[in-house]
Amino acid sequence: MTTFWKKDMNTPSYPTLHGEIQTDTAIIGGGLCGVLTAYLLKEQGIDCVVLEAASIGSGQTMGTTAKITSQHGLCYHNLIQTHGRKIAKCYAAACRQAVTDYSELIHSQNISCSFEQCPTYLYSTCENTLFLMAEANDAEYLGFDAAYTDKLSLPFPVTGAVRFNHQAAFHPLQFLYALSRELTIYEHSRVLSVKLLSSKEQSSAGFKNMIGTEYGTVSARRVIFACHYPFLRYPGFYALKMFQKQNPVFALQNVELPEAPCLGVDPDGLSFRPAGEFLLLGGPSYRTGDSKSAAFSYALLKQRVKELYPNGHILESWTAQDCVTLDGLPMIGIFSKSRPEWCIADGFGKWGMTGSMLAATLLRDMFTGQKNPLEQIVFPGRFLRHASFDFLWEHISVFTSSLLLSRLKKPKVVSDDLQTDEGGIVLHQGKKTAAYRNADGKLYTFLPRCPHMGCELSWNAEAKTWDCPCHGSRFRYDGTLLCGPANLSLTPLPQEK
Ligand SMILES: Cc1cc2nc3c(=O)[nH]c(=O)nc-3n(C[C@H](O)[C@H](O)[C@H](O)COP(=O)(O)OP(=O)(O)OC[C@H]3O[C@@H](n4cnc5c(N)ncnc54)[C@H](O)[C@@H]3O)c2cc1C
Ligand code: FES
Repeated sequence: MTTFWKKDMNTPSYPTLHGEIQTDTAIIGGGLCGVLTAYLLKEQGIDCVVLEAASIGSGQTMGTTAKITSQHGLCYHNLIQTHGRKIAKCYAAACRQAVTDYSELIHSQNISCSFEQCPTYLYSTCENTLFLMAEANDAEYLGFDAAYTDKLSLPFPVTGAVRFNHQAAFHPLQFLYALSRELTIYEHSRVLSVKLLSSKEQSSAGFKNMIGTEYGTVSARRVIFACHYPFLRYPGFYALKMFQKQNPVFALQNVELPEAPCLGVDPDGLSFRPAGEFLLLGGPSYRTGDSKSAAFSYALLKQRVKELYPNGHILESWTAQDCVTLDGLPMIGIFSKSRPEWCIADGFGKWGMTGSMLAATLLRDMFTGQKNPLEQIVFPGRFLRHASFDFLWEHISVFTSSLLLSRLKKPKVVSDDLQTDEGGIVLHQGKKTAAYRNADGKLYTFLPRCPHMGCELSWNAEAKTWDCPCHGSRFRYDGTLLCGPANLSLTPLPQEK
């Protein structure tokens, strides 16, 4: 996958890990979260190493729209209702601080990354906009410079909008690459195992954790999982706590730009993000692996481009996704009670720019013994009593149906019937198979089950990927792993002679 941000970028490269090394803190994942955390830890004199499976920034960070905003959708009214005013105030203050932290870091280090301050908006075209008024009121109560308005520079009328002042946007890869220059990074070094060593197995330095990659090992005192979705099934049981949501994004040229980033909150709402002379237009989000909703979102986006920007040119298009937690708050902190020296930073719910800053500053504070009131709020082991019932029900039913009920369903299509550039779950040589026929007629066939926990894969016809509905692992049409929690590519089936 390539995206708008990657275009014309001078990408740095780092070595692959070979042999054995030691470090205080090993960070798994070189996305924005991993790199920013490593940078802030290094500022405190903590020795750390980033281990990246592919190249830095090549995960979801490359697919973001990169608004640095504390306006996380319709978040604050709901947060007050579910978690109460005290927690909402604390979370709001932390998100506000994250925006300020970016500004200070970028200015103090003179990082050239197209950083600009701007307002951000949520808008609706529904008749009733009371919910937007409630969001504006509650945001103001929580200390934001926020207001309700019905005026917005979009190419269609809106019925209402919530404006947050003093937000920002930047080029995520320029920022990430600038920070990375100061760090020890290993690329193409996928972590395959993380083991807690017994006292007999520990090195003389007393490092308790052994991290294994294909060609090397790292002994570390602490481990941070910043790999977007942890690939270990336990401890922590994150498979029960998070799933992923996807959006298609088009980078458009030759279009009129809105004054600031605007996010539609209606079910078919679009996201508008001006970036220089370009517009990043995002389609409605859907659960990863829901192939019908994926097709709908793409089709709607294409149709809206035609209607709103008839002279517009699509420069790039891509699909990105992010982890969503059942109670809507990120998971940052101790990985599990049984692994107090492992941490996780995840579940940003599509707000991982500020989310990464929250994670990096909280982990820094935890490691340096400073109190941070956010620690208890985003603690990953929290009892999810504020979990949304709808989300919980959806998660359980998708898991049950993709893991178990799908085994009872026999495909109606046989592989011979697949047209060129078509994929799906079919019968092949009498067996249920994930199959894709490319433009030249070559057939790629795989076991139809996800290597993570065995859910049945789903074909994403627009992105030409195999997507897992359970926790969002994705694989290219040829079976290559794109992103986890799965940590292995798909197993090809032997070709017929
Ligand atoms: C369409 C879309 C638009 C968005 N827009 C915004 C926005 O405007 N503002 C905002 O705040 N947020 C936004 N987000 C969310 C944001 O992009 C993400 O939350 C953020 O990029 C996540 O960063 P990360 O570092 O956690 O993950 P990633 O960037 O995915 O980094 C994780 C890294 O870990 C590596 N990895 C995985 N497994 C292993 C392993 N076993 N060993 C070693 N490395 C491994 C991967 O290769 C990857 O590079 C958006 C999300 C989407 C989907
Ligand atoms: S991602 Fe968990 S089963 Fe596929």
